[in-house]
Amino acid sequence: MNKIKNSNYILLFALLAFTACQNSSNMNNTSDSTATDSSANTSLIPSAKNFQTTINGKQTNLYVLKNGNMQVAVTNYGARVVSIVVPDKNGNPTDVAVGYDGVQPYTQGGDTYFGAVVGRYGNRIAKGRFKLDGIEYMLATNNGPNSLHGGNIGFSRVVWDAQQPNDSTVVLTYLSKNMEEGYPGNLTAKVTYTVLSNDKLKIDYEATTDKPTVLNLTNHTYFNLNGQGSGTILNHSVMINADKFTPVDSTLIPTGKLESVKGSPFDFTTPQTIGSRANDSANQQIKFGHGYDHNFVLNTNGDINSKAAEVTGDQSGIVMDVYTTQPGLQFYIGNFMDGSHTLKGGKKDDYRTAFCMETQHYPDSPNQPNFPSTVLKPGQQYQSATIYQFSVK
Ligand code: GLA
Repeated sequence: MNKIKNSNYILLFALLAFTACQNSSNMNNTSDSTATDSSANTSLIPSAKNFQTTINGKQTNLYVLKNGNMQVAVTNYGARVVSIVVPDKNGNPTDVAVGYDGVQPYTQGGDTYFGAVVGRYGNRIAKGRFKLDGIEYMLATNNGPNSLHGGNIGFSRVVWDAQQPNDSTVVLTYLSKNMEEGYPGNLTAKVTYTVLSNDKLKIDYEATTDKPTVLNLTNHTYFNLNGQGSGTILNHSVMINADKFTPVDSTLIPTGKLESVKGSPFDFTTPQTIGSRANDSANQQIKFGHGYDHNFVLNTNGDINSKAAEVTGDQSGIVMDVYTTQPGLQFYIGNFMDGSHTLKGGKKDDYRTAFCMETQHYPDSPNQPNFPSTVLKPGQQYQSATIYQFSVK
């Protein structure tokens, strides 16, 4: 009798355990962001075959980098970061980078620069002109009267050569020919993406030239730390380690001054939500930028061990720390996003649903003698590095 009772209990227990497992696996199936098994994790990364095509005679592909809990997908079309998958505060894999499911949409329409390496000169050059060694160079004016992000094609719409030496690294190279987009010198650019332990994405930039030129390489990933396509970033909290920024004119060209952030909406020296001052219409700089679209003068002195910025996703608890050797950081909050693009998983690029932290030299440096120089000469080796490190709070 007792024996029968015991085996009934065992059966009941087994049934309860089985039902609990079923419920949790159903939950995992209802939404990407609650998935916990490793196959679901992989499914947040688009299929490589959607990136395999030939553009201008060159093969494009998707490279998936892994280290521990972190996965990053990169395509060699524009050296773009397509996905960054990290755990949120509950351990659920979350894709914090804006991107498309395949290579084709990256090639269509105006460039939004999603995830791209921008160059030869990231950010703006006034009136698309600069002088170097007494010679005036003319660039495409693709942003009002100015040149933006390397011109009509730039580095974001070319196919880079790619090599993946191991699971966590991809090395991309591109030869930008003399006078391509109006820039002098054959420039060889090399960008290495590495996923390091502790959920760090490191980007190393190198370049050499055979004639004096100017360059400013950066990465234009749009982040939403609550997950791509999950809604507004206005409640993210941001710290930027900068006492000054470079105020701009109405076309977003720096005036040349370095202005204190004190008492202004640009003071992020202590954490502030993005939205608390992003619509401060009494501030002319906010008006010119349609919100934040400004270069901050970092206090970090090019020290990659000193924190440049820290952002926290209000819902996910995901924290992103930024470290860089660069002197500036362009903070852009998706003021030109308009919901007209369909992102990974059918999400839309709605207004201010992502932000960029483009580590770089200051905009228009070739025309601003008081800004740190962006000139590269033959025999010199251009080198810079940026780390985006993820954790949870
Ligand atoms: C940069 C610019 C912005 C905008 C975006 C792309 O961040 O500073 O003004 O052009 O690129 O839309």
